[in-house]
Amino acid sequence: SSPLNVAIIGMGTVGSGVAKILLNRAEQMTARAGRPIHLKRAVVRDLSRTRDINLPAGVLTDDVESVINDSTIEVVLQLVGGIDPAYDIMLRVLESGKDVITANKALLCEKGELVFQRAKELGRCICFEAAVAGGVPLIETVTQAMTANQIISIEAILNGTSNYILTEMFSHNTSYADAVRTAQEIGYAEADPAMDVDGTDAAQKLGILVQLALGVKVNLDQFLRQGIDSLSLADLQYADELGYTVKLLAVAKLLDGQLEMHAQPTLIRNDNPLAHVEDAYNKIALEGDAVGKVWLSGMGAGQMATASAVVANLIDVAVGRAAITFPRLNLWNSSQNIQILPRE
Ligand code: NDP
Ligand code: HSE
Repeated sequence: SSPLNVAIIGMGTVGSGVAKILLNRAEQMTARAGRPIHLKRAVVRDLSRTRDINLPAGVLTDDVESVINDSTIEVVLQLVGGIDPAYDIMLRVLESGKDVITANKALLCEKGELVFQRAKELGRCICFEAAVAGGVPLIETVTQAMTANQIISIEAILNGTSNYILTEMFSHNTSYADAVRTAQEIGYAEADPAMDVDGTDAAQKLGILVQLALGVKVNLDQFLRQGIDSLSLADLQYADELGYTVKLLAVAKLLDGQLEMHAQPTLIRNDNPLAHVEDAYNKIALEGDAVGKVWLSGMGAGQMATASAVVANLIDVAVGRAAITFPRLNLWNSSQNIQILPRE
């Protein structure tokens, strides 16, 4: 059957991982997609940079227009971070008649309402499993597997970089600055790691989850957000002496129609599974009113784990599943009468 032509915009940590799966496991991906997946273009900003993957001749380009104007490309994997120019690129890609897969939670948190509305008007899809908790199938669980439930609580470690830094500081006696630098080198951290360590990234992810789970649009300034950047090794050691571990925890709890949210360093008793999360792993406890607690965990950042979620979305688009599920998402279309408790 005819190939599905795709393009990657942004060939950094995640984009390169996606290309590795598509090129190195082409036969398996063809079987799963029902047709060959052809990586036609890969767009970067700086062509002179060394890449950790060799692409076939003619694929790598710095010309984003060559993707937008190519009507044979059906799906764009948009793996550029931040808002500008990612927002503009996403709108133009949608308007050119292509579906979009993205890992960009900053964009979805700030502009999700606009891009989802535009995609729906145009009959296109936006898939974003990798935007929250990296390789963990969390979006799928919240939107599909737990759909019979009212989700009443979310307690989660959602930032891999912070968790990695805390693990390195406490377990390996690494300095804060060295741990941040290594997180950047490995590819866990955002282009601007300030977003990881000041709690913004975890808060953005919590905002997206609450929107999906409860249909409530929450702005970042409506709840308490604090990062690990003010913690010292002594804080972690004192907590340990008292039988606790410090984690950057993102929490949303619904009680009697009132929603309490925060993302902040939290003392977690050592007998709680959330205390035993190392490296860049994420761990999430979702509570549904029918199923009770559901736990998920796995790598929340990093090249191949994140690429795993992006490619899963690509297969969903290829087999036509995303075209059915995306229009039914209740995102950025608040319906429930839930009051957000003011931040303390
Ligand atoms: P990187 O910084 O490693 O890569 C970004 C890529 O985008 C680079 O290849 C860069 O080009 C390219 N780029 C930047 N601006 C432009 C532009 N104007 N036109 C074309 N290309 C451009 O980021 P990551 O791969 O780490 O992250 C990508 C997205 O995935 C972000 O939204 C991030 O939040 C998200 N994410 C990342 C995870 C991770 O573990 N790293 C996990 C989950 C989500 P060049 O290489 O030439 O500079
Ligand atoms: N910088 C992010 C993190 C990447 O460390 O969790 C995954 O979203």
